[in-house]
Amino acid sequence: MGQSLFFAAKPIERIRVGIVGLGCRGDMAMDRLPIIPGVEVAAMCEIRPHLVARQQDKLRQNGLRPAREFVGPEAYRAMCEWDGIDVVYNCAPWGLHVPVAVCAMENGKHALVEVPAAFTVEDCWRLVETAERTGRHCMQLENCCYGEIELLALNIARKGMLGRIVHGEGAYLHDLRSYNYNSPEEDASWHYRDYWRLHWNAAHKGNQYCTHGLGPICQCMGVNRGDRLDYLVSLESAQSGFEEYAKAKYPADDWRASEKVAMGDMNTTLVRTVGGRSIMIQHGIATPRPYSRLNTLIGTRGILTDYPFRVGWEDEPGKGVHTYFDDARAASVREDFMHPLWRQAGKLAQEVGGHDGMDLIMDLRWAYCLQNGLPLDQDVYDLAAWCSLGELTEKSVREGSTPQKVPDFTRGAWERRELLGIESLDLARMDVAAIRPLAAKHAP
Ligand SMILES: NC(=O)c1ccc[n+]([C@@H]2O[C@H](COP(=O)([O-])OP(=O)(O)OC[C@H]3O[C@@H](n4cnc5c(N)ncnc54)[C@H](O)[C@@H]3O)[C@@H](O)[C@H]2O)c1
Repeated sequence: MGQSLFFAAKPIERIRVGIVGLGCRGDMAMDRLPIIPGVEVAAMCEIRPHLVARQQDKLRQNGLRPAREFVGPEAYRAMCEWDGIDVVYNCAPWGLHVPVAVCAMENGKHALVEVPAAFTVEDCWRLVETAERTGRHCMQLENCCYGEIELLALNIARKGMLGRIVHGEGAYLHDLRSYNYNSPEEDASWHYRDYWRLHWNAAHKGNQYCTHGLGPICQCMGVNRGDRLDYLVSLESAQSGFEEYAKAKYPADDWRASEKVAMGDMNTTLVRTVGGRSIMIQHGIATPRPYSRLNTLIGTRGILTDYPFRVGWEDEPGKGVHTYFDDARAASVREDFMHPLWRQAGKLAQEVGGHDGMDLIMDLRWAYCLQNGLPLDQDVYDLAAWCSLGELTEKSVREGSTPQKVPDFTRGAWERRELLGIESLDLARMDVAAIRPLAAKHAP
């Protein structure tokens, strides 16, 4: 073990970013990163040269300097070695998250990694140990931690309106059948390159995409900061949704029509914390249904839930909550408890777009922390605790829902760490008012 826990790094006034993967998510990131004060996209890495050309056009049309190009399956190594960048922003498919992050840190760069940043306990430890040894940040880009309702919930929870938080429910419930099966010809924008996500889901069980629901709840509960994940049990339904969809959609001689998928349609995982709290996390991407992350917090004095947003707490202890606040009071709660980050940048973030604005809030915040030498809101220990559920839920499901211990990646330091604050989560020294969305978003 090297570096002590919870480090901050030397401030970087002008952050030079190298981005890996310019597919759907990388393209979206290229709408945001160049507009952040003090951030420059200095390098781009892809295996598909036309995507690099497309982003160069975007930079050019917006009057920005072209980025250095790194093209090829191993080109990320040269990019990580290049001394023209400070940060590697990883939007590549899942199998590349850990190798690229480790390579970035080994070469002195901070690693920012799309979700889920890792899938196995061993890889989670690898990221923790590499970050500690190199003194580089390794942050998972969990944008849902910056959603308006998630940050509102954090603010409400910290102000004690719900009492002691005893239970949380989060999820990724999103009909992703077409995205998984689409060929580029079927949908040029919404498909996964070479069906990487379908192949992953075909091979795995458990919750392989848990952090959207889990991350914000962990932050509200103070996981790794006074509490920590202890153990879990995971159970899932049989697989029917993907296979039925593919059989109905594709001719019998198309490989997709006969592809066997291991992942159950609906996974439900229960996690217990050492502080005695419980968390339910669900994953369901194979059935037709409206989108939801649940975002539910239950405390000794009230409840907050989402999709749609509803909230209620006892105005006097013991009075009970039998109905949620009416629409007018819910609206005033939303205004009165709006998180400072959303007050500062919410309007702009929604204008820029990207998951209703949370993507830009996230990017503004890590950039601000790096520019000011502050610790990141989600660090490598959070990444490891949350992402370890990939392997642990799969193991639990395959063993008939056996309990699985979640490792303590902080090695005991969770007891000494301070809670993530509210007032300290701000952008006070960033000129948010000067930020403008890119004039030209997509190349012709
Ligand atoms: N946080 C969110 O809300 C959110 C939303 C969507 C996707 N994601 C995550 O973003 C990541 C990317 O997903 P996507 O939808 O953009 O997938 P995608 O398939 O559209 O894009 C991945 C890109 O990586 C490129 N690539 C593949 N191998 C490469 C290599 N060796 N070097 C460089 N580039 C390489 C591909 O050519 C492709 O353009 C995934 O981890 C996914 O889970 C996150």
